[in-house]
Amino acid sequence: MPTVTLVVMGVSGSGKTTVAQRVAERLGWVFAEGDDFHPAANVAKMHAGHPLTDEDRWPWLRALADWIGVREAAGENAVLTCSALKRSYRALLDSGHPSVRFVHITASEETIRRRLEQRQGHYMPASLLDSQLATLEPLQPDEPGFTLPGDGEPDDVVDDVVRRLDA
Ligand SMILES: Nc1ncnc2c1ncn2[C@@H]1O[C@H](COP(=O)(O)OP(=O)(O)O)[C@@H](O)[C@H]1O
Ligand SMILES: [Mg+2]
Repeated sequence: MPTVTLVVMGVSGSGKTTVAQRVAERLGWVFAEGDDFHPAANVAKMHAGHPLTDEDRWPWLRALADWIGVREAAGENAVLTCSALKRSYRALLDSGHPSVRFVHITASEETIRRRLEQRQGHYMPASLLDSQLATLEPLQPDEPGFTLPGDGEPDDVVDDVVRRLDA
C-alpha cells in the first residue's frame, strides 16, 4: 500500500502546528514539527526578527526531505509541518517522494496577525509576517495536494483536511 505524507504548509500563524497535530492524532499517523529541524543559527536569526534566506533554508529542507524518505521506506503514513513558502522548497520536499501531499492552510492577514500577537512561547515574532507573505508562492493546481481556508475552528479545519484526503 502506498503511504501518504501530509505536509501542512503556510505562513507562520496560519495554524500549521495546531491543525497538523490534530490530524496526526485523529488518523494515528506519525507527526513531526518542521520547526524542530532548524539549525540553532536559523532559530536565533528568526528570534531576532531577521527573515531567513534561501541559503539558510536549504539544509533545513534537506533534513525534512530525509525525514520524509525514512517514513516512506518504513511504510508509515505521516504528517509534517513546514512553511514550504516557495515552489522550489516544495520541489525539494516532494522530488523522489511520491507520498507527499501538500495542504496549504490559508487565513486572512488580519486573522494571522492577531494569532501571532496572542501566541506565547514561540520564537517567530509577528514582525516577520510581512516577509513571510512576500515570500509565499501559493500552492498551484499542478502541485500535489490542496489548499484549505484555516479561518474556522481548529477541529473544523481538521475535518476538512480528513475529508479532502478521503476524496
Ligand atoms: N483555526 C484556528 N482558530 C483559532 N486559533 C488558531 C487556529 N489555528 C491556530 N490558532 C492559534 O494561532 C496561533 C498560531 O497557530 P500555529 O498552529 O502555531 O501556527 P503555525 O504553526 O502555522 O505558525 C496559535 O496560538 C494557535 O493556538
Ligand atoms: Mg508551527
